[in-house]
Amino acid sequence: MKIGFFNLEGWEQEFIKSSFPDDELFFSTKNLDKDNIPEQRDFDIVSVFVDSLLDKETLSHFPNLKFIATRSTGFDHIDLDYCKENNILVANVPAYGDNTVAEFTFGLILSLLRKVYYSIDRIKETGNFDFSQLRGEDLKGKTIGIVGTGRIGREVAKIANGFSMQILAYDPYPNEEFARELNFTYLPFNELIEKSDIITFHCPLTESSKHILNKDNIFNVKKGAYIINTARGGLIETETLVSALQKGHLKGCALDVLEDEHELKNETPLLVDGKIKDVEKIKNMLYDHILMELPNVLITPHNAFNSKEALQRILDTTIENVKNFKEERTNNINLVQK
Ligand code: NAI
Repeated sequence: MKIGFFNLEGWEQEFIKSSFPDDELFFSTKNLDKDNIPEQRDFDIVSVFVDSLLDKETLSHFPNLKFIATRSTGFDHIDLDYCKENNILVANVPAYGDNTVAEFTFGLILSLLRKVYYSIDRIKETGNFDFSQLRGEDLKGKTIGIVGTGRIGREVAKIANGFSMQILAYDPYPNEEFARELNFTYLPFNELIEKSDIITFHCPLTESSKHILNKDNIFNVKKGAYIINTARGGLIETETLVSALQKGHLKGCALDVLEDEHELKNETPLLVDGKIKDVEKIKNMLYDHILMELPNVLITPHNAFNSKEALQRILDTTIENVKNFKEERTNNINLVQK
C-alpha cells in the first residue's frame, strides 16, 4: 500500500521503515494541510499529527484515501463528517501519555503558583539572587477542579491526592467508582467553577464543550482562581479569558493549547498572503498574542505530550493501527467513529 507519514522526525522514519518493509512509504517533516499538499496524492493511508489540518479541502486532494492514523489522542483536526461520507476510517492513539500530560499539568501548576519560571528567569537574566516579589502559594489544602475525568483527568486526580489537595470534578459521564477510588466529588460545571482554586481542563473539544468557559460564566469562577488548559484551546473563549485576567478576576493561567493555534504556527505568511479570511480566527490570534504578553499567563507550545516514552508509545500504537487496517482486522483498530 502507499502510505504517507507527515510531521515526522528522523528517528521515527527509520523505525517505521523497519515495520513496513513491503509498502511504498512517503515521509515528510511538514504538516499536511491545504497549504502543504504534496505532489504525490495517491496514498491509501496517511498518518499525521495534530499540527496537520485535515479539513474537507485538504482531504479532497487524496481520492484513494481509505485510512487516516492520527498520532494523537485528539482528532478535532480531522473532518470526520467528510471521512464518513467518503468511507475513510480514522484511528487515533487513545492512550499514550495519560501520566505524561498529567505530569506536565502539575509542572504548569507549580510554575504558576510558585513562580518557578520567574524565579529561574531572574537568575538567568540578572544573576540577582533575590526572592523579592517571587512569593507563591501552596498546593496543599487548595481545591482543584478537574473538567473531564477520563484517562488524563484521573492521573491528575492521583497526583493531586499526593499534594493533599481537595478534588472536585465535572464530567457529563461521571464514574462514581473512580470518584471513590481517587477521593474526588463530582459537581455540575457551574458549581465546580465557583468552588475551585485551580480549574484544569481534560476533556475533548466537541460541539458541546466548545467555549465551555465563556463570557456568561467566567465571572462565576471563584475570584482569584487559576485556570490550566492542556486539553484544547477552543474549550475557553479567548477574548473572555483575556478580559477576566485583565480585570483581576482570575489570578493567572497556564495554557499548553490556544484557540486557533494551528494558524499561529504559520501566522506571518498566512496573514501577509491574506489566506486567513475568517474574522473570528484573526481575532482569536490577536487575543492569543495578548495572552502571551500578560505577566500572569504562562504559555507552552502544545508540549504536554512530548516525552521520550510517550512518543515511542504513540509510534507503537500507530504502527499497530496501520498494520491492523492493512490486514483488515478492523476490530483491533482504535477507530474514532464506528
Ligand atoms: P478521555 O477520552 O480518556 O477522557 C475525556 C473525558 O472527558 C471523558 O471522561 C469524557 O466523558 C469527558 N468529557 C466529554 N465531554 C465533556 C465535557 N463537555 N465536559 C467535561 N468532560 C467531558 O481523554 P484523555 O486521554 O483524558 O484526553 C483528554 C484531552 O486531552 C484530549 O481530548 C485532548 O484534547 C487533550 N490532550 C492534550 C495533549 C497535549 O499535548 N496538550 C495530549 C493528549 C491529549
